[in-house]
Amino acid sequence: MKKPIIELKDVWKIYRMGETDVEALKGISISINEDEFASIQGPSGSGKSTLMHLVGCLDLPTKGHVFLDGHDISKLTESQLATIRGKRIGFVFQAFNLIPTLTAMENVMLPMIFNNVSRWKREKTATELLMEMGLKERMNHKPNQLSGGEQQRVAIARALANDPEVILADEPTGNLDSTTGKHIMDLIRHLSKEHKKTIIMVTHDPYIASFAKKKVVIVDGKVGHDHEYLKKILWKSNHEDKKGNPKGGKK
Ligand SMILES: Nc1ncnc2c1ncn2[C@@H]1O[C@H](COP(=O)(O)OP(=O)(O)OP(=O)(O)O)[C@@H](O)[C@H]1O
Ligand SMILES: [Mg+2]
Repeated sequence: MKKPIIELKDVWKIYRMGETDVEALKGISISINEDEFASIQGPSGSGKSTLMHLVGCLDLPTKGHVFLDGHDISKLTESQLATIRGKRIGFVFQAFNLIPTLTAMENVMLPMIFNNVSRWKREKTATELLMEMGLKERMNHKPNQLSGGEQQRVAIARALANDPEVILADEPTGNLDSTTGKHIMDLIRHLSKEHKKTIIMVTHDPYIASFAKKKVVIVDGKVGHDHEYLKKILWKSNHEDKKGNPKGGKK
């Protein structure tokens, strides 16, 4: 039986903005098993990135509990949280977030420096990962000398550098055209199938979400249950911009 690696129990996140409180998450309870591939969908502002920050130990809940491998993250020290972020979780972001002055190889080697991996092992691992991502000929390129899809592949290699159990991807295909996005999705599926990683991926795109076995929908800080309502909201967020105008040129 697979055991849950991530569990959220009645999680609230309230941001204090001067005099007002912003309730970004309002009692979220979800559970994700090891090796599971889960998608998180929902309209803009519904709390998806907030949720990812909590699961990634980048932030703590205001109320409720986030368990990682059975440990309540609110009870861990800052240095224990830093170790989890560095070793057990890999992050992939919409905007790639590579360091512009470093080459692809150096970007992938960086997280291993923080884990005191020897230079020899860092080079070997980074080379293998970049080759696996199809970037053999691009190892010495800096981010601005790479296409968007190539940059995201470097970011995926970097996320894998310390061989984490969990990969968190927040809109990993959001800045890519649909063909490149499909290629990145194939790589993410490969991580799930071949590397047996637990993957949580935020996406607006129902087609991309269809790759995931478990689908979580978040609306207004809560896990959604009303399917017809959710379908309508998701359709709107995929076909209309924030002002309600049709999104130009998109399917
Ligand atoms: N640091 C913060 N301080 C105050 N409010 C915040 C902060 N971060 C997020 N919020 C608010 O919390 C709500 C949820 O934000 P979040 O970034 O989680 O949404 P999202 O679902 O990821 O949206 P998008 O699809 O646009 O990325 C929003 O109303 C946002 O304005
Ligand atoms: Mg977001």
